[in-house]
Amino acid sequence: MKSSVAVFKTLIFLAGLAPLLWLIYRFLNDDLTANPVEFLVHQSGFWGLVYLMVVLSVTPVRRFTRWNGVIKVRRMLGLFAFFYVFLHFSIYLFLDRELYWDEIIPDIVKRPYITLGFTAFLILAALALTSTRGWIRRLGRRWQKLHRLVYGAALLAVVHFWWLVKADIREPALFAVIWIGLMAARFKNAAGQQSKMKK
Ligand code: HEM
Repeated sequence: MKSSVAVFKTLIFLAGLAPLLWLIYRFLNDDLTANPVEFLVHQSGFWGLVYLMVVLSVTPVRRFTRWNGVIKVRRMLGLFAFFYVFLHFSIYLFLDRELYWDEIIPDIVKRPYITLGFTAFLILAALALTSTRGWIRRLGRRWQKLHRLVYGAALLAVVHFWWLVKADIREPALFAVIWIGLMAARFKNAAGQQSKMKK
């Protein structure tokens, strides 16, 4: 049993690493398109959003399949989501804006889609920092409340994506539909638990 959990964790770890390895492979083969910085910003943002949705689907998957083992990879998936978002932000800061703070600050303050992305980044950073056992113990019941903010961060990230696309809204619309579905699953479960408690 223990070894099957270890295999599952290894597979998820490899899946989390796959987009990064694929980007490194393309970099080594000089295949990052005609605009490498734009390509890297887009890829890292996209994978950050994908892993955010994956981490939000852990609880519904557990409920649906009644398989508790899936919870064991939730933290890892959350950290991968943060890793790609951190990469996205770092590429923007270092390669896109080359640390010109007189461009970065107005971007964050005045461009609504960047303001939303930055807010989502700050939330995810707080969640990543408090994801250790020590913080779980220290915060007690407040930990769960704090970590529910991941739904808000994911929504901000979807709107960030939606606002920046110019014409083809299919991808952000798909993420929005997934987010709505995950929220619906969450509320359905909360309502079910409340009615059980009343009985
Ligand atoms: C949770 C945090 C974030 C997520 C999940 C996220 C996700 C995304 C996604 C999915 C895209 C579009 C990728 C594509 O076109 O395929 C994108 C683009 C972009 N993001 Fe983020 N983002 C986040 C935070 C940030 C932050 C903090 C910044 C900068 C302060 C930022 C700056 C940008 C920029 C400059 C673009 C490209 C805009 C363009 O093409 O004109 N993002 N992001």
